[in-house]
Amino acid sequence: MVLLMLTGNTNPYNIKSFKVNDKRVTIYFYRSVNSTQNLARIFAEKNYPEYTIIVADEMTRGRGRLNRKWYAGKGGIWFTIILRPKINVEEITFFNILSSLAVAKTIENICGIKPCIKWPNDVLLDNKKVCGILIESSIKENMVRYLLIGIGINLENKLNEEIRETAITLREKGCIASREKILIYLISIFEKLYSFFEKNKKSYILENWKSFSYTLNKKVRVFLNNGEIIEGKAIAIDINGALKIREKNGNIYTVTYEEVYHVR
Ligand code: BTN
Repeated sequence: MVLLMLTGNTNPYNIKSFKVNDKRVTIYFYRSVNSTQNLARIFAEKNYPEYTIIVADEMTRGRGRLNRKWYAGKGGIWFTIILRPKINVEEITFFNILSSLAVAKTIENICGIKPCIKWPNDVLLDNKKVCGILIESSIKENMVRYLLIGIGINLENKLNEEIRETAITLREKGCIASREKILIYLISIFEKLYSFFEKNKKSYILENWKSFSYTLNKKVRVFLNNGEIIEGKAIAIDINGALKIREKNGNIYTVTYEEVYHVR
């Protein structure tokens, strides 16, 4: 009953379990939940292992970054991966880089179209958003207990009026792959990148990410948490995936999660 209230659903309609390299992946498929992030958190708190994945056909209260609503009707790919990396809080940003790179490579390889990534993790086609990523966490004494990597890909879902101008689906770009094919491929690329991360090969991931970057070397504006607005050139990504911005006066800012706007 409590689970029903918290997540909008009780039972998965399908469970798939398989190995990717040496990692056991278990995917729980649900018809409708309020947010896969909520259900994944319950699983994570019950000590379900890494690579427990919650997929929903639709979400009634999908969440986006910075407290935004995320429209998640039928036909999209909405899922959350539970990860338990041994990292401290500063490294969480890196998972934006890793996850968006996994999505971009999947779209490139499965659909044959090269997307761009707007820092930190929006995947774009024709300048419109095809995928958004929300990373939530549980922290204890500056160390991560688990991460919830929430990924939403517009596949063949109907785009709400509000986002019609700024979002795009893979079908609109002629990609005919199924949700399952995209999901399985994405998980295998994600696992590969995550294993590079575990072997301390962050720079390999960063270099790959840069080849998809829409933001680097562009002029950007950022509304900082303290109300300050900065404007300058996005000059680099640091080893944790934070964005370095150089203002005209030479000041350099490091941005970790705020929204970046591209300006002319
Ligand atoms: C954003 O761009 O603002 C992030 C969107 C993240 C959407 C995904 S869909 C699966 C997971 N569950 C949610 O409620 N949100 C994320």
